[in-house]
Amino acid sequence: MMTSMNIASLTELPTLPVILRSLFEVLQDEKSTFVDIAKVIKHDQTLTEKILRMANSPYFGHAGKVNTLEQAIMFLGYDLVKGICLGTSVFKFLGRNERERLGKLWQHSYEVGIIAANISDHVCNIERGSCFVSGLLHDIGRVIFLTLHREEYILMLSSDNISLKETEVFGIDHPMAGGNFLEKALLPDEIVCSVRYHHKPSMCTHYREISSVISLAEALSRTFFPKIEDDGIWTEEHDAIVLELSLDEDKLKNIRAKAEEEAATMQELFTV
Ligand SMILES: [Fe+2]
Ligand SMILES: [Fe+2]
Repeated sequence: MMTSMNIASLTELPTLPVILRSLFEVLQDEKSTFVDIAKVIKHDQTLTEKILRMANSPYFGHAGKVNTLEQAIMFLGYDLVKGICLGTSVFKFLGRNERERLGKLWQHSYEVGIIAANISDHVCNIERGSCFVSGLLHDIGRVIFLTLHREEYILMLSSDNISLKETEVFGIDHPMAGGNFLEKALLPDEIVCSVRYHHKPSMCTHYREISSVISLAEALSRTFFPKIEDDGIWTEEHDAIVLELSLDEDKLKNIRAKAEEEAATMQELFTV
């Protein structure tokens, strides 16, 4: 059974790259600031370049003006930087074979981020940035399972109902594992909850709206950018969310068009 102790053990693996270990330490320290996180990121040149490239990309709205990592963190926002660092370093930690296997999953992750951000434009009181980060990290639990239980998890990947299989074998499913991991990394509660309940947003009591947006984004991604067979299956909950958020056909078309347009930019920025 996978408990939160097992999740913590991910950060204690002897082969864990120094960057992820230090990152986790600094993220878990409530008193750490963007200067501390910048110090850690600077040890990893690829990650540094990636963050600078993102801060200077028109998508994030600051074309060509950001020169230092500290500025980049201020422009992008602490949560987005945390999300990018955690996502890329956890994915990078996997061996080449798994990375190839999961390459689609990383792509699926930022695609769900883009869709969620575009849905948020039609919903009051939800921040675009938080939706993007939650979408980017929504399936991080899958990567954690693959890292901690490689052989077993590879066999499970073709299963019909992955959440059920995960719960059977590990005691929790990937949304719950991902939420627990992000909670340990002190990400904001709305991100933690929306990841934790992305397959069952109606179970989420405090951050129901953002959880619904992430869940809907994952389900829409099956049509917009089909990739992961066993994930984001459309349920009655999604019909209800579409009604609740008053997303008519025109709005959905608009969300799709924007997401498709942005996907190419994201591919350049997010290649691991
Ligand atoms: Fe997903
Ligand atoms: Fe999922």
